[in-house]
Amino acid sequence: MSVELCGLRLAHPVVNGSGTFDAIAALRAFGEPLREAFPFSAYVSKTITLHPRTGNPPPRLWEAPAGMINSIGLPNKGLDGYLAEDLPLIAGFRSDPAAGFEAMPVPVITNVMGSDAEELGRLVEACDARSEIAAIELNVSCPNVATGLDIGADPAELERVLAALRPRTGKPLIVKLTPNAADVPACALGAQAGGADAVSLINTLRAAALDPGGSGRLWLGGRTGGLSGPAIRAVALAQVAAVAAAVEVPVIGMGGVQRSEHARELLDAGASLVAVGTESFRDPAAGTRIAAGLVLRG
Ligand SMILES: Cc1cc2nc3c(=O)[nH]c(=O)nc-3n(C[C@H](O)[C@H](O)[C@H](O)COP(=O)(O)O)c2cc1C
Repeated sequence: MSVELCGLRLAHPVVNGSGTFDAIAALRAFGEPLREAFPFSAYVSKTITLHPRTGNPPPRLWEAPAGMINSIGLPNKGLDGYLAEDLPLIAGFRSDPAAGFEAMPVPVITNVMGSDAEELGRLVEACDARSEIAAIELNVSCPNVATGLDIGADPAELERVLAALRPRTGKPLIVKLTPNAADVPACALGAQAGGADAVSLINTLRAAALDPGGSGRLWLGGRTGGLSGPAIRAVALAQVAAVAAAVEVPVIGMGGVQRSEHARELLDAGASLVAVGTESFRDPAAGTRIAAGLVLRG
């Protein structure tokens, strides 16, 4: 059941959600066999920023009913560290023929975030120059420092930013929409009008937790965090269906997928691919299990 997305041929329709599967840690834990039997048909990197970030102070995780709230704060080595150290290690994965998939390379999709069009442009150009990167995902859940507008929550701003980025790369540009917007389909249309090749959703829903000690203070170091997991599955289904009905570009659906039935629901709602996030923390082989279930059940 190989599928095609923006010119990339993939062994099956299940990829990872950015930031939820550390391929380098997985290589250390599971060794070289992971390269020949990677659980996802494309590997999406965690969000890379222009400069290194240490992330939010602890505590960074909270177990919510049927999900979790994370306030990790996008720690990463920055663009130069990612390109020099991580990218060479994560290039060269292959899909798992033993699980019933055609053996083929697993393309790398690099997820980047910038605080304005110029910063995003530098990230996009640097990714464009690297042959190991097959596509670029833009995490637009970040305020624009120049305008103060949340890039991903404002359709017109999204269109302007995409139009500025479009000439800077020939690689597919996937816009990872924020679910924390008044009108998500309008944002998707803005991204499409600016030249996006695909959209992905949903990112985490803004959420908070109170100090379990009873002080009444917000518990997480970043104050608020993002809710993910089964708790957001019905929201994801609604937003994916609404966006898929609005746009012509392909949609990558995610949010609370734990089993192949959940992936099938998102595909039926109009998604071309499905991403698995939080479930991989519970079961690192979730991608293979969910994809194999889709192959079996069609
Ligand atoms: C611990 C954690 C880290 C994440 N990091 C990122 C990230 O770096 N960039 C991004 O675009 N999304 C990030 N996400 C969002 C996921 O990619 C996904 O959109 C979201 O979790 C919904 O899918 P899920 O319910 O299957 O986890 C993160 C989610 C979690 C739980």
